[in-house]
Amino acid sequence: MIIGVPKEIKNNECRVGLTPKSVSALSKNHKVYIEKDAGAAIGFSNQIYIDSGAEILDTASDIYDSSELIVKVKEPLPEENQFLSSKNVLFTYLHLAGNKENAKNLISTGVTGVAYETVTADDGSLPLLSPMSKIAGQISLVVGQYFLLKPNKGLGTLLGAIENVSAREVSVVGAGVAGTEAIKKGLSSGAHVNVLDISQNKLDELQHSFGTENISYILSNTDSISNAISKSDLVIGSVYVVGKEAPKVITKDMLKVMKPGSVLVDISIDQGGCVETSRPTTHDDPVFIEDGVVHYCVTNMPGAVPLTASLALNQATLPYIEKIADLGLSQALKEDLHLANGLNMADGIVKHDSVSAALNS
Ligand SMILES: NC(=O)c1ccc[n+]([C@@H]2O[C@H](COP(=O)([O-])OP(=O)(O)OC[C@H]3O[C@@H](n4cnc5c(N)ncnc54)[C@H](O)[C@@H]3O)[C@@H](O)[C@H]2O)c1
Repeated sequence: MIIGVPKEIKNNECRVGLTPKSVSALSKNHKVYIEKDAGAAIGFSNQIYIDSGAEILDTASDIYDSSELIVKVKEPLPEENQFLSSKNVLFTYLHLAGNKENAKNLISTGVTGVAYETVTADDGSLPLLSPMSKIAGQISLVVGQYFLLKPNKGLGTLLGAIENVSAREVSVVGAGVAGTEAIKKGLSSGAHVNVLDISQNKLDELQHSFGTENISYILSNTDSISNAISKSDLVIGSVYVVGKEAPKVITKDMLKVMKPGSVLVDISIDQGGCVETSRPTTHDDPVFIEDGVVHYCVTNMPGAVPLTASLALNQATLPYIEKIADLGLSQALKEDLHLANGLNMADGIVKHDSVSAALNS
C-alpha cells in the first residue's frame, strides 16, 4: 500500500503521524511518503526519514495525490479537505461531533475516515485515544497551576499546603483516562482532589488505587458538581461518551458559584466541550475569561509536547496501520471488529451510530 504523511498545519501542532521508527517498520513492505519537514520541529529531519526508508515529497497536495492511506494526527482543517477524495483512507483523530460544520465538509469529500478516538479494545478501553488523554490529563494540572498565578489573571494560589496554610481544592469531572492522570498530578502537587464521575464502579476503582487521604469521591450530578466547583481553585473537565458531543456538565449558570480567578481546563473541548461557556482556543492564545473564571480550552493539548506525544501515539497506532496496509482496509475491518468501530465515514455517509446521532442532534 502507498502510505502518505502530511505535515500538520493546526496552530502549534508539531506532532507527526509516523515517526522514523514506524517508517522503518512499514517501509519493509510498503511505500511511505513523508511531506517535507513534517517532523523537523521535533528533530525528525527529512534525512532521518529517508534513512528510515521514506521518500520526501514537497507539498501536501503531492502527498494526498500519491497516497492511498493518509496517516495524520489531527482532524483535517477546512483547507486540507480540498485534497481528500473517495480514493483516500484517512486514519487520524476526527472528533466529528466536536465541530459539525467541519465534519459535514469532510464527509462530503467522500473520503473513508477511520477515527483513532472510536477504535475500541476488549476491555472497553479506547487504545488510540488513551495515550493522548494521558498526556492531556497531565498537562491540565501544569497549565491549571500556571493560570492560577496572579500575573496570569488567576486567583493567585499554589495548590499545595504551605506551613499552616491549607491545601487548595481541585475538582476533576469525568475520571477516565485523562481524569485519572489529572488526579495523580493534583495529589502530587499537594491539593485536595474532588473526583466526580457518573460511574460508581469507576469511583470505587479509583478509591482502591488512591485511598482516601486528600481525596473525595463524588457521584456526579448537577448539585454535586456545583458544590465541588464552588470550593475549587482549579476545575478539570474530562468527560467523554464515545463518539458523542460532550455533555455540558457545567452550565453558564453554575459558573456563578465559582471564585473569580479560578481556572477551568476543558479537556473535552475536542468533543465540543463539557462546559457551556467553553469555545476552542489555541496554544498561541489559550485562555479567555468568562464570568470571572479563566477558561483554558486548547483542542490539541498534547501538541505542547509533540515529541513525547508522537512517540506515544505511534506505539499505539502502528499495529493498526500495519494491519490496514498489509490486508487492505476492508479485510482489516472484517478481521478486527475493534478497528471496525473506528470507521466513521465512507462515500459521503456517516458509518458510526454514535457519531451519526451526534451530528443529527
Ligand atoms: N483537548 C485535548 O487536547 C485532548 C487530548 C486528549 C483527549 N481529549 C479528550 O478528553 C476527553 C476524555 O477522554 P478520556 O480518554 O479520558 O475518556 P474516558 O472515556 O477514559 O473517560 C471519560 C469519563 O467521563 C465519565 N463521564 C461520562 N459522562 C459523564 C458525566 N455526565 N458526568 C461525569 N462523568 C461522566 C465516564 O464515566 C468516564 O469515566 C475526550 O473528549 C477526549 O477526546 C482532549
